[in-house]
Amino acid sequence: MASSFALLLSLLSIPLLSVSSASSDSVPDFLQCLSHSSLPSYPISEAIYTPQNSSFSDVLQSYIRNLRFMTPETPKPLVIVAAKHESHVQFTVICAKTHGLEIRIRSGGHDYEGLSYVSSVPFVVLDLSNLRSISIDIANETAWVQAGATLGELYYGIANESNVHGFPAGLCPTLGTGGHFTGGGYGAMMRKYGLSVDNIVDAQLVDVNGRILDRESMGEDLFWAIRGGGAASFGVVLSWKINLVRVPETVTVFKVERTLEEGATEIVSQWQEVASNLDEDLFIRLGLSSVNATGGGKTIKASFSALFLGQTDRLLALTNESFPKLGLQKKDCIEMRWVESHLFWFDIPKGTPVDVLLNRIPKFQIYLKRKSDYVKKPIPVEGLEVIWKAMIEIEKVGMAWNPYGGRMSEIPASATPFPHRAGNIFKIQYSANWQEAGINVTNNYLNLTRELHKAMTPFVSNSPREAFLNYRDIDIGNSTEGGFPAAAVYGKDYFKDNFERLVHIKTIVDPDNFFVHEQSIPLP
Ligand SMILES: Cc1cc2nc3c(=O)[nH]c(=O)nc-3n(C[C@H](O)[C@H](O)[C@H](O)COP(=O)(O)OP(=O)(O)OC[C@H]3O[C@@H](n4cnc5c(N)ncnc54)[C@H](O)[C@@H]3O)c2cc1C
Ligand SMILES: *[C@@H]1O[C@H](CO)[C@@H](O)[C@H](O)[C@H]1NC(C)=O
Ligand SMILES: *[C@@H]1O[C@H](CO)[C@@H](O)[C@H](O)[C@H]1NC(C)=O
Ligand SMILES: *[C@@H]1O[C@H](CO)[C@@H](O)[C@H](O)[C@H]1NC(C)=O
Ligand SMILES: *[C@@H]1O[C@H](CO)[C@@H](O)[C@H](O)[C@H]1NC(C)=O
Ligand SMILES: *[C@@H]1O[C@H](CO)[C@@H](O)[C@H](O)[C@H]1NC(C)=O
Ligand SMILES: *[C@@H]1O[C@H](CO)[C@@H](O)[C@H](O)[C@H]1NC(C)=O
Ligand SMILES: *[C@@H]1O[C@H](CO)[C@@H](O)[C@H](O)[C@H]1NC(C)=O
Ligand SMILES: *[C@@H]1O[C@H](CO)[C@@H](O)[C@H](O)[C@H]1NC(C)=O
Repeated sequence: MASSFALLLSLLSIPLLSVSSASSDSVPDFLQCLSHSSLPSYPISEAIYTPQNSSFSDVLQSYIRNLRFMTPETPKPLVIVAAKHESHVQFTVICAKTHGLEIRIRSGGHDYEGLSYVSSVPFVVLDLSNLRSISIDIANETAWVQAGATLGELYYGIANESNVHGFPAGLCPTLGTGGHFTGGGYGAMMRKYGLSVDNIVDAQLVDVNGRILDRESMGEDLFWAIRGGGAASFGVVLSWKINLVRVPETVTVFKVERTLEEGATEIVSQWQEVASNLDEDLFIRLGLSSVNATGGGKTIKASFSALFLGQTDRLLALTNESFPKLGLQKKDCIEMRWVESHLFWFDIPKGTPVDVLLNRIPKFQIYLKRKSDYVKKPIPVEGLEVIWKAMIEIEKVGMAWNPYGGRMSEIPASATPFPHRAGNIFKIQYSANWQEAGINVTNNYLNLTRELHKAMTPFVSNSPREAFLNYRDIDIGNSTEGGFPAAAVYGKDYFKDNFERLVHIKTIVDPDNFFVHEQSIPLP
């Protein structure tokens, strides 16, 4: 911390220029401010990309994970600062604030609505992908992870040191820990260990004054807010300290698919009754999609994909006892190491070297739209029939139902900003993926996704209609219904009763609303 203290002193000597209104006119002053602030041993010039730089597009696009926001029409940043040192983050905050420029903070770039690198106002992208070191302390079962590290790098790094440790986080290895953790972070160990945020014990954050704070110096309120409330409303996360969790040397995965003709409705009915009450070692995710039936026409395919923190025999005994309608058999079960299970979710065959987890760039890119919902009571068979009909009509939008319960129900709704705890049996993700460019194609998929979400209204939570922050959805609050400001709507849907506390903390730590984006925590 000594070096950051010295840095602080040097920051204080920056002349405070009067704040100008946000526009591209401020860019020369902003750049000058950065170059004046640079520390000799960590020149910031190497981190700055303006549109004139031949690498500008590559640097921008290398962390765009939705082709919808990679079009010529997509608004581009005025400048990208791809920080190579913590001081670059500090100076970007100070200089952007001084010169009235908004910033967008990006770690892994998976935001479903591109809010980490797109805006309709003039903005600077502060990219953390180069700050990606991971330091694992197996003896103490902890790790420090920088915001730009991916989940794949973290999982690989843990497994490289221990075959009985892991961390509960998302299924997709290219997610950045910066955005993923601060939005909650769930994965296949959620029922046993909760969310990523439930296992974070410290953090380093650059605040609105450019100071580097840790848990002690930021205080428990701010530390609470960044664990699920979206840190981009409060500061820039540099790194997280996490508690590792225990995993068995051998875990078991399976994927069982059934169509309506093969009894899917009955199995889905039973899944709803049992999935959130099963042994915490078992997570069975249900995927639903409309597919061609073998005999012609359309049907629904239900895919049950699971991670079990144990071996096949105990798994079969469990499903036989609690979920007999699934008809799980020994031949469906594949035993492997925990780290290998991260390949299974992407249908990568067992035996593939796990260093594929170190690939930061996905194999292919798609256009996509996501939405979410929470379900608190099982949907009766007549309801399922209504849903199947809607899905078959809409055809191009699938769903993933993720079971809750277990550890998720034990953690109080106010322990972190993430409020969807006891009482939820599962979360729905709506998903549309497509490959063709064009505004009409896009509008069609957006419309279809909203149509399915609308058709689900009778079966899901209401007042508020709860939604998961990490499944960012710009539709929430974007209607004049009820006359509420958008923030009052997305604030309640994402955070329920925790929203007021987030607004209160925002008021204290960022009273001028510097850390702003299209769905940030507002001032009161
Ligand atoms: C293919 C795919 C699979 C997914 N699977 C899962 C899953 O299994 N579980 C799950 O929970 N979610 C999942 N998600 C959602 C994912 O967790 C969120 O999109 C998450 O925000 C991504 O983090 P990121 O750093 O990659 O994204 P970014 O786009 O970089 O950031 C997302 C948000 O966090 C903010 N942010 C990023 N870094 C920082 C920082 N250092 N400090 C402050 N604010 C920051 C951004 O400004 C933005 O608001 C998935 C998304 C995709 C595209
Ligand atoms: C682009 O920016 C990078 C980083 O600041 C710099 O190293 C590089 O020399 C620049 N290239 C050009 C062609 O300006
Ligand atoms: C790790 O644990 C040991 C023993 O409990 C302790 O002495 C040490 O300070 C810890 N190290 C860190 C980095 O916390
Ligand atoms: C794996 O572990 C070895 C030995 O501890 C270490 O040298 C190496 O850097 C580690 N690799 C990664 C990617 O963590
Ligand atoms: C489903 O059938 C239609 C024709 O009815 C065909 O165009 C389409 O490619 C089929 N889809 C799949 C996934 O086989
Ligand atoms: C499943 O349960 C049935 C009886 O309910 C029993 O006969 C059978 O042996 C069990 N199978 C397993 C794998 O436990
Ligand atoms: C898109 O839809 C509009 C309105 O229906 C139509 O006028 C236009 O021709 C379509 N564009 C393309 C490229 O299909
Ligand atoms: C949206 O989709 C629904 C269902 O397919 C359709 O009836 C409606 O016409 C579509 N609306 C628009 C604006 O495309
Ligand atoms: C909100 O909806 C309006 C009308 O449908 C649309 O024009 C606008 O682009 C939407 N805003 C966002 C941020 O999506």
